[in-house]
Amino acid sequence: MKKVITYGTFDLLHNGHYNLLQRAKALGDYLIVGVTTEQFDEYRGKVNINDSLMARIENIRQTGFADEIIVEDHMGQKVEDVQKYGIDIFTCGSDWVGEFDFLKPLCEVIYLERTKDVSSTILREKNRKIIKLGIIGSGRIAKRFVPESKSVAGINIEAVYNPNFESAREFGERFELDTYTDDWDLFIKKIDAVYIASPHNTHYEYIKSALNAGKHVLCEKPMVLKKSHAEEVFALAKKQRLVLMEAIKTAYAPGFLKLLSIAKIGSIGKIYDVEACFTKLTNSNTREFKPEENGGSFTELASYPLLAIIKLLGKDYEDLRFDSFTDKNGIDIYTKAHLKYKDSIATIKVGLGVKSEGQLIISGSHGYIIVEAPWWKTESFETRYEDRSKNDKFFIKFRGEGLQYEVNEFVSMINAGNEKNQFKLTAGESITIAGVIESFLDNRTASRD
Ligand code: CTP
Repeated sequence: MKKVITYGTFDLLHNGHYNLLQRAKALGDYLIVGVTTEQFDEYRGKVNINDSLMARIENIRQTGFADEIIVEDHMGQKVEDVQKYGIDIFTCGSDWVGEFDFLKPLCEVIYLERTKDVSSTILREKNRKIIKLGIIGSGRIAKRFVPESKSVAGINIEAVYNPNFESAREFGERFELDTYTDDWDLFIKKIDAVYIASPHNTHYEYIKSALNAGKHVLCEKPMVLKKSHAEEVFALAKKQRLVLMEAIKTAYAPGFLKLLSIAKIGSIGKIYDVEACFTKLTNSNTREFKPEENGGSFTELASYPLLAIIKLLGKDYEDLRFDSFTDKNGIDIYTKAHLKYKDSIATIKVGLGVKSEGQLIISGSHGYIIVEAPWWKTESFETRYEDRSKNDKFFIKFRGEGLQYEVNEFVSMINAGNEKNQFKLTAGESITIAGVIESFLDNRTASRD
């Protein structure tokens, strides 16, 4: 019996796939089709797959060509499968010519002519209206955002707004945007959604204006500085049936999501303690050191540690305490915060003027998880135990600056209407983060009085 194998994502199953599977089957007696998981596609840089793995498998089954369907979830699997299943022929479309020649010592490799003018990418683009995005603010983070968002399909940056026209112009020209303006009404008319990357103090008003104008909002962290403001803007987004997301990139990154799953399945037992540190030595003449812009280590950096803590221990902390070192303007150059829960505790260390190791350590009754610096760009982590032979290491690619993950989530939330659950960072979690930041700012004011 001649065994043939082929692989693909097979998203939005189309004619090209059908033709390929038909010819692949005709090459032998038994056809195995490997279908990729979402995680493997994400790892390969395909971040916008439409159909779920189960739906893609079902579509393949319905073609009637596959004698067996398997799941492809890691690099190197093709070499393993060819040997494991005793494959005679490996085949795929001609867009891959040469790419799989490394299998030639193991089996015959045949590249079949690709069907012209059809692909999942073309279908995805056709199905989806391109979201026109406007950026509010044109500082450092906005500059990093533009190139990263280009790798996400279904969204295009159309305009930038800055009340300072010169800044808008410089940014608009640099990134070749159609519109750069200091005219809010003109800006808002051009777009479907906004990314807010202006100073913290301005977020609240911009979010409300954008939502009231019917635009979806992705807002840089810290989204707002008061719990009541966070509650208000999420309620407004709900009323307007619009997406509102806080841009804490770690929340949307595959490595961090994997870490949460591993922690939550009880691999280290009951979680008693979370320690998260993020320091970034910064020049003292930057915005981060300006009291009038609510600068300081905690407002600038604590969103990341708070994300990890709230994701792992929940929203219902019972007590909160801060210890800071401040500069002459009252800006905290280093803050240590302690959160006490009913049966667990957490510590945050953040510093703009003090350097420390940017680790995340989650301690449990059976072992602990350590995520090496920079943990907020989670790429690998380790579960460690008393019995070291049980230790395990996990690796997950973190692409670029990681902003593409939040953009991709934003696009898929918008496209899903109100169907999709915003579980990666919920409104309640963002509201809790705002509440902690508010407590910190209240505390800082009180200690200054
Ligand atoms: N294929 C083909 N003809 C097409 C499209 C795909 O023969 N018009 C083949 C590919 O060469 C591959 C298999 O179908 O062997 C699965 O490809 P997949 O990557 O899932 O499909 P694409 O449409 O190429 O997807 P995308 O646009 O996301 O890259």
